[in-house]
Amino acid sequence: MAEKSFKYVIVGGGVAAGYAAREFAKQGVKPGELAIISKEAVAPYERPALSKAYLFPEGTARLPGFHVCVGSGGERLLPEWYTEKGISLVLSTEIVKADLASKTLISAAGETFKYQILIIATGSTVIRLSDFGVQGADAKNIFYLREIDEADELVKAIKAKKNGKAVVVGGGYIGLELSAALRINNFDVSMVFPEPWCMPRLFTAGIAAFYEGYYAKKGIKIIKGTVAVGFGTNGDGEVTNVKLRDGRVLEADIVVVGVGGKPLTTLFKDHVDEEKGGIKTDAFFKTSVPDVYAVGDVATFPMKLYGETRRVEHVDHARKSAEQAVKAIFASEQGKSISEYDYLPYFYSRSFDLSWQFYGDNVGETVLFGDSSPESPNHKFGSYWVKDGKVVGAFLESGTAEENNAIAKVARVQPPVSSLDQLAAEGLIFASKI
Ligand code: FDA
Ligand code: NAD
Repeated sequence: MAEKSFKYVIVGGGVAAGYAAREFAKQGVKPGELAIISKEAVAPYERPALSKAYLFPEGTARLPGFHVCVGSGGERLLPEWYTEKGISLVLSTEIVKADLASKTLISAAGETFKYQILIIATGSTVIRLSDFGVQGADAKNIFYLREIDEADELVKAIKAKKNGKAVVVGGGYIGLELSAALRINNFDVSMVFPEPWCMPRLFTAGIAAFYEGYYAKKGIKIIKGTVAVGFGTNGDGEVTNVKLRDGRVLEADIVVVGVGGKPLTTLFKDHVDEEKGGIKTDAFFKTSVPDVYAVGDVATFPMKLYGETRRVEHVDHARKSAEQAVKAIFASEQGKSISEYDYLPYFYSRSFDLSWQFYGDNVGETVLFGDSSPESPNHKFGSYWVKDGKVVGAFLESGTAEENNAIAKVARVQPPVSSLDQLAAEGLIFASKI
């Protein structure tokens, strides 16, 4: 089979690849120099849409509406854009072998791709219940959500099982966003997770109490402190119920599982240095292998602000790390240097009419401020995290753009605080003074 050769190859065609392509164009990449090789059949898109408007019965999002770079307010890169720029989009093509010594990638269909510079942007994959040996976990109508074809299968099932019962397994991002989307589609929704409150990797008990109360008001049943241990099926192999460890059995027409993700680094194992489950990079997203970069979910990079390396599984970092890597590649070709990546963590989520943002680090003591009652009409509340006498993280529900900017600034500046009580009393006023 013919061999194709490019100056730059990005393996993976998700968020990071799309934002990298835009930066390549800005930096003046020449036609024929860049290829993006993606397992998915479509040009890079804003993945967050899949768990939100993609699933809504009204105001539904569909491609080409959410190709990158609309998520950051930029120009939408349609497939024609890549053609105009002479960037090869090699779609529906999975790379199954990487030989970094000979700078060669091989696809499942046996095609060979050569590169001079490689950017690894393979993102994450889902953790499956079958990985834990949960009985019946491969039944029909049990869904995971990472890629657009999985979202399409879920949409089909939502239509086929109209007004049915749904069980959502997992209390993290997918759990909260999918429970809401299924409820908006008029499903009878139960959400099951093992921890004492939802989204424990970010939420405090106080923050979670608001969302759990709000979801309950919307009719979602929240079942905590237990896990799914098996699934019942009908004669067609479709899921009919979920068996919980505590003995309860929940009827289900659809099950959505969101029990975490893991970075897709297996192709490069034993070739590049790894750390904290990801591919180790420097502040320019260079890996331990010359001419190989890693960006987005797969990269474990130096978080300058906190003096340690971290991996981040969120879209803002996917965008910014990709841009940083491409700038670094062009700078080094021109014998120039650029500033180190200095990332302020930023995560967000939306469900129903709710929308929160978080900036910084969620370590230390916490204070809750504002009106966090699920009954309140405006539900504007937040939380600060305080470590060593400084505010290091801030969360805000239903903030305006200005208020969100203010909490971002707090997390960046890390102002000192003398009294937690005063901080709680001041709430957003504290942020607006920074
Ligand atoms: P991404 O997963 O976007 O892309 C990886 C690409 O590589 C995929 O196209 C994949 O098919 C391809 N690939 C993998 N292996 C390959 C191989 N061997 N050969 C070829 N191609 C290969 N974050 C946030 O901050 N706010 C939000 O609201 C959301 N919402 C959200 C919803 C859903 C449903 C998901 C799954 C994730 C989010 N996220 C999010 C997280 C965010 O989307 C995620 O961090 C970024 O998409 C990561 O970008 P990457 O480019 O690293 O991976
Ligand atoms: P997550 O890590 O946010 O949540 C996983 C949850 O799974 C845990 O909170 C826990 O409640 C639960 N869990 C673990 N083991 C379980 C078990 N055996 N049974 C039941 N529950 C169990 O992961 P996720 O929600 O699956 O999201 C996957 C990826 O997608 C992550 O990288 C996430 O960052 C990304 N994502 C992000 C957003 C966003 O930023 N708004 C939205 C959707 C997805």
